[in-house]
Amino acid sequence: MSFSLGIVGAGQFAGFFAKLFQLHPGVSRISATDLLPERAERLVAEYGLTGGTHPDFDEMLDSDVDAVALFTQRWTHGPLAVQALLAGKHVYSCVPMAMTQEEIGAIIDAVRETGLTYMMGETSHYNPATVYAREKVAEQAFGRLFYAEGDYLHDMDHGFYAAYQYSGGENWKATASYPPLLYPTHSIGGVLGAWQTHATSVSAIGVVDDRRDGVFDREISQFDNDFSNATALFKTADGGSFRINEFRRVGYHPHIRESRFRFFGTEGIFETLDTVSLWHDKKGVQDVSQHLQAAPTLAADDPSLDHVDPALRDAFVSGTAPVHDRSRLPAEFAHAPNGHEGSHHFLADDFVTAVEHRAMPTVNAWVAARYTLPGIIAHASARRDGERLPRTGLRPGAGVTTRALAAASAARARRAAGGDDLQGLRARRPGQPGGVCRLGAARRGLAQYPLRSLAAAAHRDPPREQGPDGPVSRGAR
Ligand SMILES: NC(=O)c1ccc[n+]([C@@H]2O[C@H](COP(=O)([O-])OP(=O)(O)OC[C@H]3O[C@@H](n4cnc5c(N)ncnc54)[C@H](O)[C@@H]3O)[C@@H](O)[C@H]2O)c1
Repeated sequence: MSFSLGIVGAGQFAGFFAKLFQLHPGVSRISATDLLPERAERLVAEYGLTGGTHPDFDEMLDSDVDAVALFTQRWTHGPLAVQALLAGKHVYSCVPMAMTQEEIGAIIDAVRETGLTYMMGETSHYNPATVYAREKVAEQAFGRLFYAEGDYLHDMDHGFYAAYQYSGGENWKATASYPPLLYPTHSIGGVLGAWQTHATSVSAIGVVDDRRDGVFDREISQFDNDFSNATALFKTADGGSFRINEFRRVGYHPHIRESRFRFFGTEGIFETLDTVSLWHDKKGVQDVSQHLQAAPTLAADDPSLDHVDPALRDAFVSGTAPVHDRSRLPAEFAHAPNGHEGSHHFLADDFVTAVEHRAMPTVNAWVAARYTLPGIIAHASARRDGERLPRTGLRPGAGVTTRALAAASAARARRAAGGDDLQGLRARRPGQPGGVCRLGAARRGLAQYPLRSLAAAAHRDPPREQGPDGPVSRGAR
């Protein structure tokens, strides 16, 4: 059964997924909204979206769309996701999941309470290196995996100045200082997308920027941030460790893979370097680069990329690699543009299939928390000059709690005004035909959220009652 989808945020990234969602046979109708209405209108016109535009996010939530896809700026996702879930919509969210542990806890609670689908679109989950390492883990070829590394190397000079100007308008410098460790999912998601563990403590170092161009200036930064590069070392639950690098000032060629991973086990090692990928074991070393080589699906000068800085375009044209198994993808995707080393097709299909079958998506709220929360704690560690922080080491920030509570109150007010808009809930919990969202419990999740309980929640497997078929483990490749 197909469902309708509303796209929230019609900026630089949304069109790539609007196209895929539109092609997917599981989606019936797509609409869009943006704070800048002309962007939503452009998206609707360019992709022929039959659902048209909504004047704003609230109106979209009041409409009969079944699901929303958040393509808004990276610091906005948490409260919007909670508000959408409480309004009865399934949620696809761009990375990161949220900016604080409270927002993450609120999303997990809202998913638990509503039974709706939440998925974070982490592209590294389907990075060819992650897919390859996941296969090696399944074959137990690493022996005991005890150490890994993930790098996300994206120099500000490679398209990010233009992207932040497009995104932030006149005040773009305030937001271009987004803390690298609060955007940790491309590095952590590649490591933990293959290694079935989670982080339990972290020590991180931030490098204070010295460009002095107003970006990464604490006086200007909306995030009080002056780190442009950061490194974090995590301990894992199974006694190992992994290290991530989130670098925004780095001498690196823009047309080379920006996410790179290394995995070390007692029986084997797998590493992706800039252009080469190697599998080692005690017998020798194999160059496996060709298995991981993503083929382009679109020319870099394609008109659909006009609003994307040329330095960023490689990421938006790269298709699948031989290591990807495309057999489960809809035939409609066969010649569709892809991106981020072939991940877009899998992410779009994961979400649609999860909603259609009421099944657990790959990067569900619990997995998304494992990919996001460690970076939040790492950033706090870096702010404390590398102090090792256990997963109980942070206190919630009051400001965000207030915003999230305001979002919940707005949802409650809408319900009060419109009577029983809980009918909009598509989720049906087993044994609860009405699929009622218990707001009181959901709001409790937005209040003080001790990191210990959040971390524990993020580490547990999601509840099986999410879908009638229970969690579905898709995306093994
Ligand atoms: N590899 C990846 O996974 C990857 C790559 C690129 C971008 N992203 C993510 O995609 C998201 C979008 O990136 P982008 O470059 O398109 O951003 P963008 O700034 O170009 O577009 C965001 C749009 O959202 C709109 N918006 C913000 N708040 C809104 C609201 N409440 N209601 C309606 N519209 C709202 C803005 O007006 C803007 O047009 C970001 O979160 C980014 O982190 C992920």
